[in-house]
Amino acid sequence: MTDPDQSASREGLHPHDETTGTFKPASKHEFRASVFQTMIEGYKTMTLALGYKLGLFDVMANLEVPATAEEIALKANCREKQTDEWLRAMSSEGYIKYDLDTKRYTLPLEHSKSFKENTGGHNIVTLFLEGLSVLACAFEDTAALYKRDGPEFLPPASKNAVAEWKKKIYTMPEWSEESVAAFVDSTPGLKAKSEEGIQVLDIGCGTGSLSIKMAKLFPRSEVKGVDLSEESIKKAKENVNVPNVSFGTADATELDSNWTEKFDYVVSSFVLHHVSPLTTALGEIRRVLKPGGWLSVMEFAEEGISHGDFYMKTAHSVEVLAQVESEGAEHHHGDHGHHHGDHGHHHGHHHGNHGHQHGEEKVKPSGSIMHGLTAVELKERGPVCRVNADTLSMAGFVDLQILEQPEDEFNPHYFLKKPL
Ligand SMILES: C[S@@+](CC[C@H](N)C(=O)[O-])C[C@H]1O[C@@H](n2cnc3c(N)ncnc32)[C@H](O)[C@@H]1O
Repeated sequence: MTDPDQSASREGLHPHDETTGTFKPASKHEFRASVFQTMIEGYKTMTLALGYKLGLFDVMANLEVPATAEEIALKANCREKQTDEWLRAMSSEGYIKYDLDTKRYTLPLEHSKSFKENTGGHNIVTLFLEGLSVLACAFEDTAALYKRDGPEFLPPASKNAVAEWKKKIYTMPEWSEESVAAFVDSTPGLKAKSEEGIQVLDIGCGTGSLSIKMAKLFPRSEVKGVDLSEESIKKAKENVNVPNVSFGTADATELDSNWTEKFDYVVSSFVLHHVSPLTTALGEIRRVLKPGGWLSVMEFAEEGISHGDFYMKTAHSVEVLAQVESEGAEHHHGDHGHHHGDHGHHHGHHHGNHGHQHGEEKVKPSGSIMHGLTAVELKERGPVCRVNADTLSMAGFVDLQILEQPEDEFNPHYFLKKPL
């Protein structure tokens, strides 16, 4: 794994660090060390991706007792010699534990969690490892695309694979019945409260998968889903198949003036990091909650394991390697917005202000996990998540509990109450 200190000093040496826009001169030796470090990580990453592709992490996660290379290879339907090499490489990196005496390997539970597929979830680790295979397959075609005398578009096989992967990384998966049930079970008292017949508001409900499945689980309660995106609300209305759910468009910063103290429970899943000004939205949530009402905010983790951070740090490489937008999609570079093919929404194109939040910015809606922003726009936008225990508590909510999301153990579920 990367030594944080090493990578921090390495970052400072990058000749074109566009996050800070600063060029820090390095001696030839320092620079060589920096290039080496990046390359070492690259080779290791490909080794990880190979293990993921072959299902070796899954096999290891399911081992009940430590296993030999031969046993692991057999379970993964792989050749022993190659599997043994891979296991040794991963052990030397500390990903996998090797017992010299018994010659057996284990993948510690805490390590296996990073490689675990969520049921229908969005595991950024596995998605980006999968991306490496896709991009490696398309590598020659991508290189040809850069040449003046090369083809203008990727051949269909590469193009489809790359486009499909890009769509996956920018799209939020729908909530399944199981994931909603697991979420409700993981929220203390929610199921019992719903049986009292409560009013629920899902802010930024997208196409309504959480609202609808919650309404099904809460037959005595009423669920209202709102989203800024008319397109998403239209789809949500088409998806409705239970009587106790309804949808409408609304901006989190300006909820219906008739809703003061209307709701017993407000839920907002991966929405508030898009919303500006955040404090206005939190004030609105407080207003529409009854005294003592409950609030669930699911958000990206901050620091180290933050999705936003990961997307931003990989943004330029994704832009360079995943060349699919040249065909068909409109791609206007300029000051007046950016039409993103996948989602059909306009987004302001921000330059400068690296690393700062755009306080006044009103982000346009989309169903995308990162709001349909292109990789470079994401990087230019700076840190994504400022929704955290402090911002939520400062907005006047109490009794904060930080719960684990059942299918996404790395991102927090902030569970709070409006004071009585
Ligand atoms: C990543 S999606 C999450 C969708 C859904 N909550 C889920 O968990 O699947 C973010 C949603 O927030 C909506 N959104 C963004 N800004 C908003 C705002 N100011 N008011 C209401 N909804 C907003 C977007 O339109 C989008 O549907």
